[in-house]
This record gives sequence, C-alpha cells and structure tokens, in this order.
Amino acid sequence: PAPGWTVRADVVVVGSGVAGLTLALRYAALDPGAKVLVVTKDVLSSGSTRWAQGGIAAVLDPRDTPEEHLSDTLVAGVGLCDEEAVRILVTEGPDALRGLIAVGARFDTDDSGALQLTREGGHRRDRIVHAGGDATGAEVQRALVKAVVESGIEVIEHALVLDLLKDAEGRTAGVTLHVMGEGERDGVGAVTAGAVVLATGGMGQVYAATTNPVVSTGDGVALALRAGAVVRDLEFVQFHPTVLWLGENSTGQQPLVSEAVRGEGAVLVDADGTRFMRDVHELADLAPRDVVAKAIMRRMRVTGTDHVYLDARHFGEEKWRTRFPTIHAVCLEHGIDPVTQLVPVAPAAHYASGGVRADLRGRTSVPGLYACGEVACTGVHGANRLASNSLLEGLVFAGRIAADIHEGRATRDGARPVAGEPVPDDRPTGLIDPRARSRIQGHMSRGASVLRGEESLGEVARALLNLRWTPVTVEPCTESWETTNLLTVASALVAAARERRETRGSHWREDFPERDDDRWLGHLDTTLTTEGP
Ligand code: SIN
Repeated sequence: PAPGWTVRADVVVVGSGVAGLTLALRYAALDPGAKVLVVTKDVLSSGSTRWAQGGIAAVLDPRDTPEEHLSDTLVAGVGLCDEEAVRILVTEGPDALRGLIAVGARFDTDDSGALQLTREGGHRRDRIVHAGGDATGAEVQRALVKAVVESGIEVIEHALVLDLLKDAEGRTAGVTLHVMGEGERDGVGAVTAGAVVLATGGMGQVYAATTNPVVSTGDGVALALRAGAVVRDLEFVQFHPTVLWLGENSTGQQPLVSEAVRGEGAVLVDADGTRFMRDVHELADLAPRDVVAKAIMRRMRVTGTDHVYLDARHFGEEKWRTRFPTIHAVCLEHGIDPVTQLVPVAPAAHYASGGVRADLRGRTSVPGLYACGEVACTGVHGANRLASNSLLEGLVFAGRIAADIHEGRATRDGARPVAGEPVPDDRPTGLIDPRARSRIQGHMSRGASVLRGEESLGEVARALLNLRWTPVTVEPCTESWETTNLLTVASALVAAARERRETRGSHWREDFPERDDDRWLGHLDTTLTTEGP
C-alpha cells in the first residue's frame, strides 16, 4: 500500500533485541549528529533476546583460548561455518562483552568479583557468562533498553516493517512500515534512509511449538526475499533439545529449560530412568545440540513416548532457587517440583542458523541493506549453532556494521548514507488470511520438523501452495502481514530442506541419513525469483 506519511533518517534499525539495540548505540556513538531510528514491531523490550537463558559464550578464562572456542564452533557447525567469520566472533567476542558490561549489563560473579563461567552443549571449556542465574537475556535487554532510552535515540514502537524501498539503481532507500496507534504516524508510512539494518530475529513461529516469542515470524527474511536479497541455509533450523514438555498438544512459545542445567550436572533419562546420552557421544549429555535433539527423538521412538526427562534432583532446593530461578518457577507453575521430581522435556524449534546472507561487515546482496543477529547468515553457525553464540553474534556484528556504515560516510567526504528517490513498487500484495497461521505451523511441525524426508516435505510444500492460492479477501493488518511472512519463509525453508538430500547438523533427512561431503559441503542460496512468491 502507498505510504500515508514519511519520515527521514540516516540509519534505520529494524528490531530491538541485542543486535538492533547494540547497533543503534554503536552507530550513535560513532556519529553523534546522525538520526538513528529504531523501529520495532512490539515494544522496545519485547523480542527473543529477553528469553535467552544460558548466556553469552566468550573466552575469559586464562586457561581457555579463542582457538578452542573456534574449534568447538566449527565442530558444531559440521563443515559449513565460515572460518574467518567464526574467528572474528571468538576474537572480538570478549571485547564486545566488555562493551555490554560498560553499557550497564550486570553478569553473575563469584565472591572475588570475577565473572562466573559455565558450560553448555558442545563447549569443551567453561566459557559462558550468565546473569540472574538463568535470566541472561532479560538482563541484556534491560541494560540495552535503558541505554537506548537515555541516549535519546528515536524509537517507533508497534511498527511492523513491510518492504524495502529501493532507488532506481537498486540501492536501499528506506522501508515502508505499518504503525499502530502513533498519532500522526498511524497506518502505513515510510522511513527514508540510505542504510537499513535488519535485526528482526528469528522465525520460530513457523512451527507449532517453539521457544520463540509470538513476534518471531521471519519478517526480516521475508522482506529480504521480496527485496531480491540472497537468503542462505534456511534448512538449518535448530531444535532445542529441552523445552518443558506440557503435553502433546501444547502450541506456541514453550518454556525453555536451558542447556546450562545440563552444564551444571543434570542428566537426560528415558521413561525407564535409563541414561541414554553416554552411549551416543563422548560429551554425553553435553554433546552439541543437534546430537542431543536427535538422540532424544530416537529414544522417544524406541520407548514409544513423546518426551524424556531431565534429572537434576541432586541440585537441591538452594541451587535450583539461586542458579535457575526462572526455570524453577516455571516448573512449579506447571506442577513439577524439580527438587523432588524428574522434569519432562522434549525438543522444539529454537533458532534459525541460516538467514539473510551477510558478509563480515553485515552487508547483504542489496547495497545499503544490512542484516545482524539471528536474521543474518554470516557463516558463524554453519549447519548448527553452538550454544550461547547467538547473543555474542549480535554484539560482535552490530559493532562491525556500525563501523562499516560510518566508514562509508568517510569515503563520501563525510556525507551520511543518502537515500535515493524510492521507486514505487506496484506489485500486488498477495496477503494471506491470518487464519492460515495455525495451519502453516501445523504442517511445518508435522512434516518439516527435526525429522524430515521427501514424502513429508513434499506434502508440506503442496499444503503451503494451497494456502497461497486459496482465494480470500484479506484486510491489510499486522496479522495478515505476519501470516504472509510466515508463509514466505516456510515455503523457502521447505524448498531448501527438500533440496539438501543429506543429513547434516540440524537438518536430519530420514531418507538420506548420512552426511555427504562430496555433494553437499556447500550452502543453499535462495532468492524469490528461484523459489516462487
Ligand atoms: C539455553 O540456555 O539452553 C539456550 C542457549 C542458546 O540457545 O544458545
């Protein structure tokens, strides 16, 4: 739809998690006179970051080295990480974390004041800092929101980004967005800017059960696809091995039970009380996430159950309350006392390791468009992200993107990124009925989940196509745009998952159960022209 109002900015940041807010702060610090505008779909403090439990991985222990963090990340990524990107992540990570502490984030320390470090799946060292025990993301979000508010950076809340504006040369010229209840800025409007940073987070809501909040509808990836940007490795959706199992029909955002619980000594057991991870991997319960999720799925099949259990009764009341207060409270809320009972758990969709292809400075294939954090595919995660590397990626690459935009200014004799004249986009919107949302999620969970094969994926692809072509008149509103985005990313994800005929990392094909380095040691790039609308 044609924008009813227009505002101008120098840099637009879309999204307000760790990536978006860090980026806004870093750019504002480099260029205090610039107009940096953060637009966010809900309120500034919503999004995935605040739900992160485990922590942030960084080499801080003198016995640890960046080489070891690099090696653990590459192993988890099963041959598809970009080693240079990972090297940047692990070497720049500690300073990026110190920057976050300088902004005001408070992490858990020991009696001497040193940061406490714990371990999660796939890490061979204790290198994960945490806050409030198991509420790391909430503390990170709190500190960043406070800093952004105090800095005076302009924010538009309740603003769903719709599409990228481009000039006649195909360069980024801003975004269109739909704002709810902002007075003069109500309804569909435009922000013009020569630099747009997507920091919209993930797409977990394409599945029926996910750790992601309701806002994680793949908006950034869908926008990028519509804008002609290259999207990479969408088939690698990571399933977190342990969310609290609330019954087979539980849908929507599921409570996470952090890997740090296993990092502190909890073990997985099946319905008979048998530990099953020791025979699967040398790291047993702390194997990389894909290995644990698959082992759980196999165990459930063998035992004919739909969940397994975490046993952490030996922690005792005091440790549960102080080290894992969030998880402890959620368990009690659902009638499970983890001090005396086993905690029922099952895998659920957690993290998109792929996303909008971005280089080492966060640049996408569209000039002036950047991607940062979960929405991006920078090459640091490969086929399976290592635990607690996600907040870290947002922090590190936000700094690099801010620097790149700022350096671009230097090469233009101090001129800020200039937005060209947007070219009107006359393509029909093709909005999808919001009632299709739960159907998309149901199809994806049944056929394109942890386990997938050509038969199940083909069925999902056909069902998604039917939803696209079912003729209904749809009101443009947040729900219909979100559902349209879900359908776009689900279709692209399924197409990539059908194409990769091997098993690697978090992509587990029942019909191609082996890893095939001869044919598939590479990336799958998607553009809208190749994958349909
Ligand atoms: C967790 O706490 O288990 C999640 C950490 C992550 O996703 O990196």
